[in-house]
Amino acid sequence: MLNSYKNNFFHSNTRLHLNNAGLAPISRAAKDKILYWGNRFYEEGFYTDHDYVEDVLHARTSLSSLIGCDPFEIAFFQSTASAISQLCFNFPLAPNDEVITWDQEYASQIYPWQEACKRKEAKLIIVESEKNLTTPVEKIIEKISEKTKVIAISWVQFLTGARTDLVTLSKITREKKIFLFVDIMQGFGLHPFHMKDLGIDAVAGGSHKWLTSPVGVGFLALDKIHINLIRPHNVGAYTFGTCDDPTDLQCIPKTDALKFEAGSKQVLEISALGASVDLILKTTVAVIETEVLRLSSKLTLGLRNLGYEVYNNNSSIVNFIPRPDSVQKLKSIPCNFALRGPGIRLSPHAFNSDEDIERVLSALSQ
Ligand SMILES: Cc1ncc(COP(=O)(O)O)c(C=O)c1O
Repeated sequence: MLNSYKNNFFHSNTRLHLNNAGLAPISRAAKDKILYWGNRFYEEGFYTDHDYVEDVLHARTSLSSLIGCDPFEIAFFQSTASAISQLCFNFPLAPNDEVITWDQEYASQIYPWQEACKRKEAKLIIVESEKNLTTPVEKIIEKISEKTKVIAISWVQFLTGARTDLVTLSKITREKKIFLFVDIMQGFGLHPFHMKDLGIDAVAGGSHKWLTSPVGVGFLALDKIHINLIRPHNVGAYTFGTCDDPTDLQCIPKTDALKFEAGSKQVLEISALGASVDLILKTTVAVIETEVLRLSSKLTLGLRNLGYEVYNNNSSIVNFIPRPDSVQKLKSIPCNFALRGPGIRLSPHAFNSDEDIERVLSALSQ
């Protein structure tokens, strides 16, 4: 299983891909899907109509298995930011309601909620992480009050991979009827996840990191019990019907999450995402997780043995405090990386190899 997963990626003898928490290379399955649709659109144009709709539905269904929700609870967008904006700009917040979040959230989460709170005169409560950037759930729970309407956090944080304990949090949010929204971008596809079993109200994420598919797809999964509560942010033919329906100014929206997709879809990107998700489902998240944690532990241990201070929270993300020449050494391999939070972020995926980790450690040891 693992070997066939690894064989689905291009292996370069020169370039190392260790910024997968930023942008991962796409799988061969995703690349083939793009070529397939590129060719069919080139040769057949409108005659592809029925088939591409089927393939988008297939991607939606595969994604729903990985998220743990119904396919029609998913809406596709162009980015995670657009998916989160859909949720929060039309979320029924009232003046003085409170939304709780972490101080280290990625901008695509914190900016939309900040803007939504401003528009509705609600309050965004930003909870301070620990000094070592961990995110113990008790700190969020402490801030819950009668006014708390939403908790909006990432499952795995993008700086150092700190995780929030969703099992403990969702028990409380369900009891207190607080809406729990989770940005799953940095853990989804890597660690086991099930939105419904976890009792989460909505999640969002995107295509271009751990799902190894092209940049350009964000998704929102919203529990069907809330779909009536939230109006579409963008509106078009597909909010109400399809391109073939006559215009009807009564405008009765669809009753599932497809009402959030105002118009035509990014067929190439969405179908490629579906192909990569199928690969993950076939390999299993458990196999991917084991390999990712093995490689990230090897990297962490190796860096610590070389005397570097390292942040690693049992996720792929390994963030180390650089020395003056560390950036240059990584560039010379070349190996991609990101400067994030306290230091240099490296983030192996299951397609990486032991040799990749050894090459980085060897370059940083000199
Ligand atoms: C936690 C998290 N959410 C979302 C994103 C991506 O957001 P967008 O799709 O809006 O670019 C990132 C990318 O770095 C991220 O780390």
